[in-house]
Amino acid sequence: MLQPADVQHLMGGRKVARITYQPDEIQERVRALGEEIGRAYPDGELLVLGLLKGSFIFVGDLVRAIPRPLQVDFIVASSYGDAKVSSGNVRLVYDPETRLEGKHILLCEDIIDSGRTLNRLVELLSARQPRSLEICALLDKGLAGGVLTKSARFLGFKAPNEFLVGYGLDHAEDFRHLPFVASLAD
Ligand code: IMP
Ligand code: MG
Repeated sequence: MLQPADVQHLMGGRKVARITYQPDEIQERVRALGEEIGRAYPDGELLVLGLLKGSFIFVGDLVRAIPRPLQVDFIVASSYGDAKVSSGNVRLVYDPETRLEGKHILLCEDIIDSGRTLNRLVELLSARQPRSLEICALLDKGLAGGVLTKSARFLGFKAPNEFLVGYGLDHAEDFRHLPFVASLAD
């Protein structure tokens, strides 16, 4: 098991409070999610749509664990403002060129916090007449409860209400490359 002291050389001077999810734990969970997703879509065209940048590592691992034909694309949604707090002012910066109509869309998100980003995206993507639209999130802080139009059908872990980095998650663009998820010390 990795301890904070083992990873300090990766952190550029920031302190890790604890390793929240170990690399093996993440890999095992993502493999199980892939199997679950494969079973959930017995037919039809599946488009795995990752929300950049946070989902890039998660989607990379996840799609390799889904045992059925599929396509992958990414969208970028930016919310303005402070690095640690989501403002809810979500803007779709890039639209996928891929056709969405008639496909099963699996929208993949790194972490659900306030849920505002997702709500806006669900609204935008539903307008494209997909055959179905579901959410897959690696982490959910469980704070968005009543706010979410649609909750994650596929979920990696219920996350603690802490600021997490690694496995795609950043703080001011740092730490995305870490193979584990860690809580930053204040
Ligand atoms: P929401 O709109 O509040 O649900 O925010 C979701 C987005 O905020 C995620 O896609 C992340 O990019 C970012 N975010 C929320 N919580 C964290 C965290 O603990 N660490 C890193 N990024 C986070
Ligand atoms: Mg971010």
